[in-house]
Amino acid sequence: MPETPDDMAPMIETAPDIRPVPRIAVQAFCESREVAAIIEAAAGDRRMAKAHVKVQMGGMNVAIEFYHGAPTPNLVVVETHAVREELLDQLDRLAEVCDQGTKVFVIGHVNDVLLFRELMRRGVSEYVVAPFGIFDFIRSIADLYGSTASAPLGRTIGFFGTKGGCGASTICHNVAWSITTSYDQPVVLVDLDLPFGTAGIDFNQDPTLGIVDALATPDRVDDVFIDRLLTRFDDRLSILAAPATLDRTFDLAEMSFDPIFDVVRASVPAVVVDIPHLWTSWTKRTLRQLDEIVIVAVPDLASLRNTKNVCDFLKQTRPNDAAPRLIINMAGMPKRPEIKPEDFARALELPILSVIPFEPALFGTAANNGQMIAEVEAKHPIGETFRSIASIVTGRSEVRRQKRPSSLSFLARLRGKAAG
Ligand SMILES: Nc1ncnc2c1ncn2[C@@H]1O[C@H](COP(=O)(O)OP(=O)(O)OP(=O)(O)O)[C@@H](O)[C@H]1O
Ligand SMILES: [Mg+2]
Repeated sequence: MPETPDDMAPMIETAPDIRPVPRIAVQAFCESREVAAIIEAAAGDRRMAKAHVKVQMGGMNVAIEFYHGAPTPNLVVVETHAVREELLDQLDRLAEVCDQGTKVFVIGHVNDVLLFRELMRRGVSEYVVAPFGIFDFIRSIADLYGSTASAPLGRTIGFFGTKGGCGASTICHNVAWSITTSYDQPVVLVDLDLPFGTAGIDFNQDPTLGIVDALATPDRVDDVFIDRLLTRFDDRLSILAAPATLDRTFDLAEMSFDPIFDVVRASVPAVVVDIPHLWTSWTKRTLRQLDEIVIVAVPDLASLRNTKNVCDFLKQTRPNDAAPRLIINMAGMPKRPEIKPEDFARALELPILSVIPFEPALFGTAANNGQMIAEVEAKHPIGETFRSIASIVTGRSEVRRQKRPSSLSFLARLRGKAAG
């Protein structure tokens, strides 16, 4: 007898309540094949399509060893068969190598409510007892990042040039790329230079949709909609591209980009923003709201004056924030008289993060090929400069330098409380 249509229907989805997991990097260290298989299956689920998941065998000791020499992702998942004292000792050692902002998800084999409480008290984000299902795992992660009470996931990092053509966009794009390649961390690059933006061509992309499609329909802006507008360069870097056409003008209201930033920063750990060399209500608002600001200047008098004015504006409008980071670009251009970096810094009373030399052949080749500097010449020191800027603007270098029990790691923050 032929099967009825009902018999042939695919298995019905039984987990409609799970939110999609945002664009985070997850690394799992498993002791058992069963747990590794569940995590791998979860990683392949559509709800985790945006997350970047790596699974390896080895458990807690391998994780600790691994992160001695590597930065930690947004979420570390560790399976352990250890019991109470040994587990707490392992977690202490893991805490010492965890960067700020990393969450830890423990998969254990003991159903012990007192242990669960102790782990939560020490700052572990989740403790799940094996065996568990694919949807249990996805739901736990979605809840960790989806709660309205938790801080917005993404750090916004903006680049602003204090003179037209000073290289702000080039530096912005190279740093965005470095964040993804050095830290295996997903990034959304937002190009706010609507008529002339170069994020598309710098990455050799030809976007058909982009940020303007979201500006046109602010009521529809949510993560699903923004996702459709992103141009994917690779599995970590996505671009919210500018149209770069002149068929309309962009006289935008001050808050035009607010809904877009709200959505993007809730779904990805790093949002890198290319701000055009303009002084409008919306560029001022963007500068006011970013988590990290990088100012790009060239070593001449006009750029120095403009940088001073921008810094004064930032100091006044963001009195409780750190000063912006300052990069001097195109230093050492032949035959050009220049203001020395130390004089620039003294006039601004601001340290200089990096001085990038004028290298027309290298930058010209990269721009014309739609490549990043490190792709053109992997060993060139400017590639290392971009990596170090990436580490500073993502808040990694400061934490890494003091990576011992005194660090801001997930456990250390709470250990004082637990002891008290
Ligand atoms: N250090 C450098 N040495 C040589 N050329 C550079 C350097 N930095 C950037 N350039 C080149 O300068 C040009 C302008 O760079 P870019 O578009 O990044 O500047 P911008 O400040 O974003 O300009 P705009 O004001 O148009 O936004 C590009 O062709 C870029 O390749
Ligand atoms: Mg630019």
